[in-house]
Amino acid sequence: MKKLLLILIACFGVVGLGIAQVGAQGSAGAVNGSAGSAAQEGPAGMIVTEVPVRPAGQTDVVGLAVAPIETVRVGFIGLGMRGPGAVNRFTFIEGVEIKALCDLYPQRVEDTQKRLTDKGLPRAEAYSGADGWKRLCERDDIDLVYICSPWQRHTEMALYAMEQGKHVAVEVPAAMTLEECWALVDTAERTRRHCMMLENCCYDFFEMATLNMAQQGVFGDIVHVEGAYIHDLRELQFNPFSPDARDAYQGQFRLEFNAEHTGNPYPTHGLGPVAQVLGLHRGDKMNYLVSLSSAQKGMSEYARERFGSDSPEAAREYRLGDMNTTLISTERGRSMMIQHDVTSPRPYSRLHTVSGTDGFAQKYPVQSVAVAPNAHRALAGEELKEFLARWEHPITREVGELARRVGGHGGMDFIMDWRLVYCLRNGLPLDQDVYDAAEWSCIVPLSEISVLAGSAPVAVPDFTRGAWDRVVGFRHAMVN
Ligand SMILES: NC(=O)c1ccc[n+]([C@@H]2O[C@H](COP(=O)([O-])OP(=O)(O)OC[C@H]3O[C@@H](n4cnc5c(N)ncnc54)[C@H](O)[C@@H]3O)[C@@H](O)[C@H]2O)c1
Repeated sequence: MKKLLLILIACFGVVGLGIAQVGAQGSAGAVNGSAGSAAQEGPAGMIVTEVPVRPAGQTDVVGLAVAPIETVRVGFIGLGMRGPGAVNRFTFIEGVEIKALCDLYPQRVEDTQKRLTDKGLPRAEAYSGADGWKRLCERDDIDLVYICSPWQRHTEMALYAMEQGKHVAVEVPAAMTLEECWALVDTAERTRRHCMMLENCCYDFFEMATLNMAQQGVFGDIVHVEGAYIHDLRELQFNPFSPDARDAYQGQFRLEFNAEHTGNPYPTHGLGPVAQVLGLHRGDKMNYLVSLSSAQKGMSEYARERFGSDSPEAAREYRLGDMNTTLISTERGRSMMIQHDVTSPRPYSRLHTVSGTDGFAQKYPVQSVAVAPNAHRALAGEELKEFLARWEHPITREVGELARRVGGHGGMDFIMDWRLVYCLRNGLPLDQDVYDAAEWSCIVPLSEISVLAGSAPVAVPDFTRGAWDRVVGFRHAMVN
């Protein structure tokens, strides 16, 4: 056992975040002298990571609201494939000023300025180079720092922005390690700043409709949900990067992470929408997960075909299994299944399945809804269209048409940004708080721990440290 723990600690760099395993009696305390960590119940053999003690004088930020910000002044960091689209979307939102733009490469900043000037807006202050992002965060005329950098930089940038008194919106996943998850939580609690992960899939039209249906009881008692990120990214992952390339990840950051890690490195697109349906840390919480990865075949085979059998790309070891399946058990006895596969020739899918005692919905591979007592047959054609129209979420009903025109994954990206600005301008809690960011991101390290331990159960920490049932049910905050 000692050997297993040492291997785990070596693999995950979790020294400082102790790991313990639940014994035959089914409970374990966290190790490393964490006086405030409660013993955790769970299946025998469950691996438990340390819950750091909340620093004295610090309180949780469940329901955090700050004073209304009449004009939201924004600075953007990371202007690669994703960032410029976000800048463009913000030009369509009322009550926003785009103050600063930053990327490692000055040309990317300059190219994005055109998005502003083409619309008659003033140029933003430009930052570039390795530390330009810090100067942006330090400005005193910015309320919100919007981060679209590579995964490995998200937390560092979000922490620095909060330390400078800024609210943060950060791309997915917000964090890649447990230390990063806890650092986001602790910093948001200490600075009382918003830290929202930009989980755009929560705002897609079908997902919003199923959320509305769940909130109105259409599914009855929900017992099972599924989400996934199944997206053939082999070509994009392997595209060589240059500052001029617009179809490659900077520093091939995705390939680099996936070569070094197993488990599910990108869980939040599938998890976010179903987490809202279940109301995680709003009356329910994830208790533990088990995770299983298939063998890795897709990256090696693709590398052989594209670069040749003798190429370094073909010779390299890739740790990420092609398909990862993670099962999660919740406090209220719901089951969740989250999958990840970016290296198989398969149609795109996020599954988005909701199953309850009275009904069922699934978005992929084909939109499907069934309700008792006729649930043997899924609604189809006009019937399905009418049903989804009846249950359209009030928010997509209000802003959906504009969102479809502005675009960004069919409009969901715009709805996300629009909601973020709406909440900030009205002094409301954001739709996604720092605990969502930590809970949804922590599947990255926890799924890896489970896979490497032969699919052993791993406890999911309560990032609210006890406040998970203070609010019951997920709700979008509205002025009235
Ligand atoms: N939510 C979604 O649907 C969605 C879609 C695509 C990407 N993303 C996320 O967006 C992020 C960016 O993805 P991408 O596809 O644009 O990758 P990218 O590599 O094209 O862009 C990242 C940009 O960050 C810049 N950058 C790196 N280090 C920097 C630093 N120190 N200072 C300033 N800029 C720096 C790079 O130069 C690059 O332009 C990722 O986290 C990704 O997961 C989310």
